Amino acid sequence: MTPWSPKLGAWPGKADMELVTTIPEVRQRLDAVRREGGTVGLVPTMGYLHEGHASLMASAVADNDFTMVTIFVNPLQFAAGEDLESYPRDLDRDLEICVAEGVDLVLAPSVDEMYPTSIETTVTVDRIARLLEGGSRPEHFAGVATVVAKLFSIAGSCRSYFGAKDWQQVAVVRKMAHDLSMPVEVVSCPIVREHDGLAMSSRNVYLTPDERIQAPALRRALDAGLTAIASGERDPTSVEAAMAAVIADASRATLDYVAAVQADTLTADALLHGEVRLLLAVHFGRTRLIDNDGTVIL
Ligand code: PAJ
Repeated sequence: MTPWSPKLGAWPGKADMELVTTIPEVRQRLDAVRREGGTVGLVPTMGYLHEGHASLMASAVADNDFTMVTIFVNPLQFAAGEDLESYPRDLDRDLEICVAEGVDLVLAPSVDEMYPTSIETTVTVDRIARLLEGGSRPEHFAGVATVVAKLFSIAGSCRSYFGAKDWQQVAVVRKMAHDLSMPVEVVSCPIVREHDGLAMSSRNVYLTPDERIQAPALRRALDAGLTAIASGERDPTSVEAAMAAVIADASRATLDYVAAVQADTLTADALLHGEVRLLLAVHFGRTRLIDNDGTVIL
């Protein structure tokens, strides 16, 4: 086991967080925890951690005896031309955040450790992964499902924490875990936002100052949709139009998709009813942002 060392001096008394880079070391460690009757919490991330990630860690630490965070920018979920190379990274800062949240172990594997040979086995989730994000990023969820399946296989029996910010990702991962009888409870955690309503995201650093000023339009679009529903609108197309109008008003924004759908199926019935989810994806220059919110129609 590699003891966590980069900033030992800066964190007196917290030197017991372990940084691990290989899969067998993790298996050994987590098996030992479970043998002693402990429960394991898993927080998969691609690093460049912010308060959204920290909230998942806090839930995992609160619910479990031992929490592992994984930091891995997964090439499989980026299409050619997406931001794999430029995806922001800062392992030292990430480790400080993990220590501050009381995380027990960080797995930060290399691409070779995760994919030592070109892989021939991938996990594809069908219907729910083809909607919304799947329409704009056709290969994305197969990449996510495959790496999360690997992380679940590496971690073994555990609770795993995902942010509702990526609502469809939670649905895809839940479906995969259920369909493949994985011994993992998938826990969804609330969206953490900046003061002006912008959902926190590692990709927010790409925004230019002008784009950053306009980016809370996503939150305002969700509010416009929620207001329409609250005033009795039940036609999904009209709710979507109210949301799209807000994005159209932001000069630097280009709408990718907007959806007012049933929260469980992510498709729209003729009239909205029960638990409803509003989702949207918007381009600001080279940056693509997603957000969502929900309501229940009684
Ligand atoms: P990443 O974008 O790093 O996000 C890791 C986790 O943090 C995801 O579950 C995401 O939904 C959650 N998260 C991000 N921003 C959040 C916010 N503002 N509030 C609450 N939670 C937030 O999502 C991924 O990585 C990858 O697809 C991964 C699941 C790790 C597979 O590679």
